[in-house]
Amino acid sequence: MVSGAQQALHLLASMPFPNGKSAVLVEQPCYAGMLKLLNLLGITAIGIARTEFGLDLDELERHFRNNSIKFFYTVPRFHNPLGTSLSRQEKEAIAAMAEKYDVYIVEDDYLADLETDGRSDPICSYDRSGRVIYLRSFSKIMLPGLRLGAAVLPEAFIHSFRMYKSSSDLSTSALSQAALEIHLGSGLFQRHAAIMRERYGVRMKALQEACGRYLNEGFRLSRSAGGIFARLELPDHLGAEELAAALFQKDVHVFPTAPCYLPSVEIANGLRLSIIRANEQEIGDGIRMLRETADELMSRSRTNPSGRSAITWI
Ligand SMILES: Cc1ncc(COP(=O)(O)O)c(C=O)c1O
Repeated sequence: MVSGAQQALHLLASMPFPNGKSAVLVEQPCYAGMLKLLNLLGITAIGIARTEFGLDLDELERHFRNNSIKFFYTVPRFHNPLGTSLSRQEKEAIAAMAEKYDVYIVEDDYLADLETDGRSDPICSYDRSGRVIYLRSFSKIMLPGLRLGAAVLPEAFIHSFRMYKSSSDLSTSALSQAALEIHLGSGLFQRHAAIMRERYGVRMKALQEACGRYLNEGFRLSRSAGGIFARLELPDHLGAEELAAALFQKDVHVFPTAPCYLPSVEIANGLRLSIIRANEQEIGDGIRMLRETADELMSRSRTNPSGRSAITWI
């Protein structure tokens, strides 16, 4: 047990791996918290495009073959920020390539408990060579403040991971673990997870409907497979940061996806939308306000081409 999946990511990025390699391959876009920690630790990060249609497996194989990749960090299920999931074929291919090229996979399955498709297995279920490290989080399904996650490690890692873990915080909070144990043992966890799956499913549908109703062709919502996030692509002439700042003034919180990209990569102009803290009514209102605000900003920049400076104080 770890103090959140985030701690496992930090420990894995810090510790040496049996393959003796050094760089970390990340999807682009990628969970911003991972990019931040790699940057802080001074670790070389290499990007591979992840679109809503998945990964280019030929390109992945080129990276595995030609670069010194310690591990490939991937969020196969309900990707943050895209909301999409990898196919079974992609997951099988990743496990096979990991073995062929001696590259480890850090599989961040932070939203596994929200899965509604019983046939959607993680990459680690296809791993025959002990090269997949599987991470779970209890933050999104229960409570971020519990700070609980799980790392399922190949045998070869256990000793060294324990040393790094105990040097970081001695152990994960026993109080949090006891609370989780009671929750699991009593069946409350399973009941709560079923309620959350249902609730988030309804909200995701509400988000898709609201985007269909209020947004026109310049905007594009990723075909989210479920979970809690979807990525909204914006028209070129509408800056994501500018729109997010203007919406923040109206108490609508959205996250520009720029921090999900490495500095060397071309940043897609988009927002990550989350349904975790908004009900269906608020989602509909939020998307309507997003459209109104976007119209205001676009008409302002048409009448005053230098108008951008007018809101840089936000
Ligand atoms: C993809 C992903 N992985 C890991 C984490 C961190 O999870 P935890 O709260 O368990 O540390 C987050 C948090 O948002 C996340 O989005």
